[in-house]
Amino acid sequence: MLYNTNLNLDQIRKDTPNCLDKLYFNNAGASLMPKPVMAKIQEYLIEEEKYGGYAAFDRNSAEIQQFYNEVAELIEATPHNIAFAHSATDAYAKALSAIDFQKDDVILTTADDYVTNQMQFLSLQKRFGIVIQKVRNTENGDIDFEDFERLIALKRPKLVCVTHIPTNSGLVQDVEKVSEICEREGLLFLLDACQSVGQLPVSVAKIKCDFMSVTGRKFLRGPRGTGFLYISDRMLEQGSYPLFIDGAGAIWRSEDTFELIEQGKRFQYWELPYALLLGLKEAIRYQKSLGIENIQSYNDQLMTYLRKNIATIPNVATFDQGSVTCNILTFTKEEKPILALKEELLKRDVYCSISARESGVIDFDKKGIKGVVRISPHYFNTIDEIDRLLNHINDL
Ligand SMILES: Cc1ncc(COP(=O)(O)O)c(C=O)c1O
Repeated sequence: MLYNTNLNLDQIRKDTPNCLDKLYFNNAGASLMPKPVMAKIQEYLIEEEKYGGYAAFDRNSAEIQQFYNEVAELIEATPHNIAFAHSATDAYAKALSAIDFQKDDVILTTADDYVTNQMQFLSLQKRFGIVIQKVRNTENGDIDFEDFERLIALKRPKLVCVTHIPTNSGLVQDVEKVSEICEREGLLFLLDACQSVGQLPVSVAKIKCDFMSVTGRKFLRGPRGTGFLYISDRMLEQGSYPLFIDGAGAIWRSEDTFELIEQGKRFQYWELPYALLLGLKEAIRYQKSLGIENIQSYNDQLMTYLRKNIATIPNVATFDQGSVTCNILTFTKEEKPILALKEELLKRDVYCSISARESGVIDFDKKGIKGVVRISPHYFNTIDEIDRLLNHINDL
């Protein structure tokens, strides 16, 4: 099959030399970093080694500020809306902690929201007596918006939480529609965009949310231990802040008072891994140079080809859900244990991951499966690699 792309795949693959000796399909887990990302991290660590961490920061503070500018440009926000986070979970937990939950407050969410988010809701239920309400899915697994509107009218939720791309079903939720309804109804909206930023154009000018959590290591191709939180102007102006703020997020004015700083940085801690922060900045810059529309269009071709051809392999079941799908495809083969499938693929230099039932109990129990193997290509992959992957899956 010939593909049609504006991407310079030869250059991209040269920039990712470690994709050449293997079939790397674990971008929904952690992608391979492009060379400029690694170079930036090393460069900064050498500065820390030479001058010590504090002086290295002073010497590089202008470039560090660029991180906020790059993130803001990526999601169409302004730099003051952005906080660095150590992971999507770190960002999400800080956002949740900023909401002043009272007993019987309702969180409206979906059955497909990420495992950690679901457990954090359960934790809030145990501690504060909040109520978790899940919207129904339509037949094909999308959000049932009739039910969504009904629950909003009935329950007046304190917070709406939706995961843009859940971790294991290929589903892309219509979060623009969620945001329109939340805006119309004046509801707070927390968006988990961990798997979508880097894969799709994600703009907070279009998806109007109050908080958005993102990780660095997946489709953005940054280093592990990085991410960010977007905080809306409305939240900043209302004086929203994470429950456990530190001396960088607020100024201790008197024995009994502190004063919040104005920017979203009040959601980050003073101590940050600046080498990694700069690595993520570089990853975003790299991706921007390729263009997210080009990435999405090429990825669509890879995934259409993968989906069409995996369906022809005997004894393979796939578990896509929803009317719009993405770069995540999950499968099982006969009754083979998923760990054994993953290990067998690894022996053939195929890198992928598995999702066990515990990463999505509602979804897995509904489908009646214990787990799946997850394949998640990205734009440095080729159709030839997909063909080789399909042959390996066929041989398992
Ligand atoms: C949809 C989704 N949300 C959140 C997370 C958590 O991300 P992190 O590990 O960066 O905290 C993941 C991780 O796989 C995810 O898939």
